[in-house]
Amino acid sequence: MRFHYPELLHGGDYNPEQWMEQKDTIWKEDMRYAKEAGINTLSVGIFSWSYLEPEDGVYDFSWMDEVMDNLAANGMKAVLATPSGARPPWLAKKYPSVLRMTDKRERRLYGDRHNACYSSLDYERKVTEINTRLAQRYKDHPALMLWHISNEYANDCHCPLCQQRFREWLKERYGTIENLNRCWWNGFWSHRFNSFDEIESPSRIGETTSPELKLAWRRFSSDNLIRFFKTEIAPLRQYTPDVPVTTNLMYHFNEVDYFKLGREMDVASWDNYPVWKGDERDVAVSRDSAFWHDVIRGVGGQKPFLLMESSPSSVNWQPINRLRMPGTLMYQGMQAIAHGSDSVQYFQFRAGRGGSEQYHGAVIDRTGTNQTRTFREVAQVGQRLKELKCLAGTQTRNEIALLFDWNVRWALDEASLLHKGNQKYLETVQSFHNALCTLGYGVDLVDETCDLSSYRVLIAPMAYMTRDGFGERAAQFVQNGGTLITTYLGGYVNEELLTYMDADPSPLNALTGMHVDECDALDDRTFDAFDWNGKRYQVKEMAEISHITTAEALAAYTQRFYKGTPCLTVNHYGDGRCYYIAARTEEAFLVDFLREVLTVSPLAQVSEGVSVTARFSDEKRYVFVHNPAHEPGQAVFESSMRDVLTGEELGKVCPVDALSIRVLTDA
Ligand code: GLA
Ligand code: ZN
Repeated sequence: MRFHYPELLHGGDYNPEQWMEQKDTIWKEDMRYAKEAGINTLSVGIFSWSYLEPEDGVYDFSWMDEVMDNLAANGMKAVLATPSGARPPWLAKKYPSVLRMTDKRERRLYGDRHNACYSSLDYERKVTEINTRLAQRYKDHPALMLWHISNEYANDCHCPLCQQRFREWLKERYGTIENLNRCWWNGFWSHRFNSFDEIESPSRIGETTSPELKLAWRRFSSDNLIRFFKTEIAPLRQYTPDVPVTTNLMYHFNEVDYFKLGREMDVASWDNYPVWKGDERDVAVSRDSAFWHDVIRGVGGQKPFLLMESSPSSVNWQPINRLRMPGTLMYQGMQAIAHGSDSVQYFQFRAGRGGSEQYHGAVIDRTGTNQTRTFREVAQVGQRLKELKCLAGTQTRNEIALLFDWNVRWALDEASLLHKGNQKYLETVQSFHNALCTLGYGVDLVDETCDLSSYRVLIAPMAYMTRDGFGERAAQFVQNGGTLITTYLGGYVNEELLTYMDADPSPLNALTGMHVDECDALDDRTFDAFDWNGKRYQVKEMAEISHITTAEALAAYTQRFYKGTPCLTVNHYGDGRCYYIAARTEEAFLVDFLREVLTVSPLAQVSEGVSVTARFSDEKRYVFVHNPAHEPGQAVFESSMRDVLTGEELGKVCPVDALSIRVLTDA
């Protein structure tokens, strides 16, 4: 199923149950303010379990009926949540299996949120019951638009039930214990298991070193969470087969394979909380958000996604919770739209009078007034989204794919080599993303399981693990004329973390036409360099010493004992080519290099700090010129452009104000 709504969504988390005694005043005011702010959707029920089921088996939906009716009566839609993100105390008291256990096998006490055991059969049953009732009750409600499953699913549990599920998962994956021992290289340190029952999850009081066990646990925990997600949506699929589902993903989050989870959702959504600085550092802040917007769009299969939460002003969980400069909110919201979001939503609509988030930014702040700068700015965003209704449902179409894979990320986290524990995978992928932004390209993020056939360029930094089937897909891609750009730390291990040997070579070797002999870790006093295209570039942190099999050298190291060995090569393979960058370099090199070797055209030539993205309807191309800098910038196009909001024809040179995003279309 595909999520589609004919408008861009504007709204956010709304928890009116905190004001149950002021329905006549606060609830009414909420609706008035929401309309005034141009809000067309509110997310309800996210943390409402204790109101919906105050005691085991005793349900009260009457207040939610009123909330849903109010939304419908005021022309708004509901993003209706399942309440599993936080449970009532009675539930933990009565069914202790819902409480997580730490890796030290200590059962948690009741408290906080987002910490239920995903294997607990009691939790599964209680969640299924309440989700079923929600679905049955609201299936025909005119306000119901989208299901919001739980909230920010995260993390693992080490309880006996999870151990049991882990062993079942291992049996399913490896079949026999002999095969598991072989895949995990358990002949080392006498770690050979005689049965699956002997296996325990990694723990600070047990196994801390086995990369294979630790990776298996990460994979299992991610799969177990996805399994729970599927359990949650089963009753919703049954009673509301036409209502799409999503769950809100998180910034930077490492513990769930989001690409895999994304395949189970109808639309991807996420919570973005950039920490704006109010000065020149905002360019980097913006680039970081740009990267994660692109990741989430990739997780959702490149369809439009949703910005489910963002702060309308400050947050309350930073050491220093700064206000945003005027205009930042518009930039932040428009940036999401520009990367393919169909919504701008906030946490939260109205701040509570108490609780741990009483000082978190809200559309209606803690004093309950709309006479605030935040409210005015939110209303301006609402107005802008109405004016840009034509963007709802439009899609991105990028020709460049950048590989970012959770399994590679985990494998590198566990890899004891070079810069142990700090291989900088994410930073490296981001530096390629940055370079592409600097050059005026839009880019799609993919993982090793994604279809590559629509791309012309694939950039695969530090593809340390080649998962089953990826080698073949990458070869096919290059064979068919694609350009592959790979780097150091590529193709070291297979899906099981076993290193490739010459008798069973890495599938990347044939593509790069290179054989990696050694890899040097450089510290902060050790550097190398290479000359390319008339310029010298610095080598830092990681440098592979390789020899050529079929490639052609483009540059060689100039300094250390491996001076003269190739550090930049190209190999022709089928109708395509594969570039190999053997060492970590400055971002400036990536910019110069990509400018030279990419055969696809950028969207525009941009001034410093500016970037460009595009969305397409069947008839039109919409181009967004982003300027997060605090001074004006510009983008130069190949043909004349028109400003969508003003209708003004601009010619090829499009100026863009400081801290703003301009929406253009072809003139
Ligand atoms: C997350 C949660 C929200 C809220 C915000 C605060 O995104 O989903 O419930 O706690 O953080 O920034
Ligand atoms: Zn558990």
